Amino acid sequence: MSTSKKFVVIGGTGLIGSKAVAILRNAGHDVVVASSRNGINAFTGEGLEAALSGADAVIDVSNMMSFDEPVLRNFFATSSRNLTAAEKAAGVRHHVVLSIVGTSDLVSNPYISGKQAQEEAVQASGQDYTIVRATQFYEFMDTLAEAYTADGAVTVPDIEFQPIAADDVAAALVRVALGNPHHGIVDLAGPDRAGFDEIMRTYLAAKGDRRSVRVDASLGYFGAPVTATSLVPMGAFMRGEIAFSDWLQQQTHATQVEKA
Ligand SMILES: NC(=O)c1ccc[n+]([C@@H]2O[C@H](COP(=O)([O-])OP(=O)(O)OC[C@H]3O[C@@H](n4cnc5c(N)ncnc54)[C@H](OP(=O)(O)O)[C@@H]3O)[C@@H](O)[C@H]2O)c1
Repeated sequence: MSTSKKFVVIGGTGLIGSKAVAILRNAGHDVVVASSRNGINAFTGEGLEAALSGADAVIDVSNMMSFDEPVLRNFFATSSRNLTAAEKAAGVRHHVVLSIVGTSDLVSNPYISGKQAQEEAVQASGQDYTIVRATQFYEFMDTLAEAYTADGAVTVPDIEFQPIAADDVAAALVRVALGNPHHGIVDLAGPDRAGFDEIMRTYLAAKGDRRSVRVDASLGYFGAPVTATSLVPMGAFMRGEIAFSDWLQQQTHATQVEKA
């Protein structure tokens, strides 16, 4: 008997989505790669009915970049309402959505406020769901380094950090989607926890980036005030397997191969 199922990955062309699609396809599942450019739009509802027909689970890793809080909240909440309504109509068993560790305490950050609106829409939907809150991706380190750079130095808040590889995030989402809905929140983080400054220093050194790294306890996270543990899981969490050092080595190797 075939155990192959149908999955819909909303944002299936993105960083996490494309990795989740590959894992599901390698396991023999039927996957719809949903993205607005593919004619399946969570925000407008275009293409959802056909895409969701016969699906077992939906993984929502769609994203929007904006600095405008109402725009972000509207995008994430409307998309989640559209998706969960269409899933209920189609009899989809499980809605899995990717959010961010610490979301409830960081909502003065406009982006995280959008993620809160997304979580609330899913929780209020009546659809069976799991919210997976991940820490920052290793792949996000460059963006963080740029964002915290001033006068040629990287100055970060005095907080703990426990980033995770995008490959581990995708694998965890697939595991969750295959299982039963939690009807709640599950935290997900990488295997190593250290100071944000230490991790930033390690990252820049591996890239041969000579910017110095400093700590400023008055800094927040993109506009949100933080405490030492704002960005790390405080209780039980799913743990990624890929160590930051191994991922860095892989990146350096890939860059060397590209240059050769
Ligand atoms: N960066 C981090 O460290 C971090 C940490 C924890 C959680 N997260 C969460 O991880 C999620 C995925 O991030 P990512 O970096 O993989 O995103 P990404 O690479 O920017 O990909 C976003 C995807 O969403 C699709 N999309 C955008 N609008 C859509 C719409 N209306 N309908 C359907 N698809 C749409 C995009 O395709 P089209 O443009 O074709 O629509 C694309 O496939 C985000 O929700 C983010 O909040 C990020």
